Amino acid sequence: MGAGIAEVCARHGLLVTVIERDANALVAGEERIRKSLERALGSNKITQGVFDDTLGNLTFSLDYAALTQSDLVIEAIAEVEELKFEVFRELDRVLEKDNAILASNTSSIQISRLASVTQRPDRVVGLHFFNPVPVLRLVEIIAGEATSTDTVERVRAFASEQLEKKPILAPDRAGFVVNFLLIPYLLSAIRLVEANLATAEDIDTGMVEGCAHPMGPLALADLIGLDTTLFIADTLFEDLHEPQLVAPQLLCDMVTQGKLGRKSGEGFFSYAKK
Ligand SMILES: NC(=O)c1ccc[n+]([C@@H]2O[C@H](COP(=O)([O-])OP(=O)(O)OC[C@H]3O[C@@H](n4cnc5c(N)ncnc54)[C@H](O)[C@@H]3O)[C@@H](O)[C@H]2O)c1
Repeated sequence: MGAGIAEVCARHGLLVTVIERDANALVAGEERIRKSLERALGSNKITQGVFDDTLGNLTFSLDYAALTQSDLVIEAIAEVEELKFEVFRELDRVLEKDNAILASNTSSIQISRLASVTQRPDRVVGLHFFNPVPVLRLVEIIAGEATSTDTVERVRAFASEQLEKKPILAPDRAGFVVNFLLIPYLLSAIRLVEANLATAEDIDTGMVEGCAHPMGPLALADLIGLDTTLFIADTLFEDLHEPQLVAPQLLCDMVTQGKLGRKSGEGFFSYAKK
């Protein structure tokens, strides 16, 4: 997600600094962005000029100090609350501009909780992008308890005017709008496979051909990542206690076995490793 967000921002002319936790991850992230841009260039979605400018707008670093003068930081690290707390404390410390905004791409952690570990809760906001970021236009904007109207308006303008995205306002509770509706649907599809009531292929064909969805629920779960899907389901269940949010055993088992969907090469479907 971080690579996609960085690519989209850089493609729209913004100067972007990408921070990773180690050198290997930094190289992998840079490679992911370059490959995505090469695909866009190869299919004539962007010109050679945009390709060159986009790469020119990107800087890669392991040092949070590279962010001191940033106007907006979008955190997209793994969905682990303690890790996000650490990163938010660090970002709050290094950002020097008074009105700098600290945003999170979290899928399920409350923005008010992230804001509470900073000295700038009025300038902390959720900016929830969708995967793949260069393709999907939606961005959910989530205001925490202390987020100011000015912050919400600034990120709304950033998303719609600078990135040409479609922002919607979503409540600061588990699942926001889209995952609250989507996750029970994905879990229901997994329950059908688990109970041997239908094949993964037939379930996905049903939703693609019968409901004109661009992708079936199991391919979508693979794309999101089965570990991320499980984490979001567990978080939603913890908050809302609804039976349809209990993660199916099959999903838990696949995650334990390292079958995480596209990123691991195997999930409900198999993928050639990139
Ligand atoms: N996968 C999706 O479809 C999706 C969609 C919307 C939002 N999200 C959210 O986006 C976030 C990232 O999800 P993802 O699927 O891209 O996860 P991922 O595990 O693929 O990527 C996380 C990246 O963060 C890096 N990282 C970890 N700790 C770091 C640190 N302390 N400093 C800098 N970098 C660090 C990792 O090296 C890794 O490259 C999560 O909060 C997730 O809930 C995911």
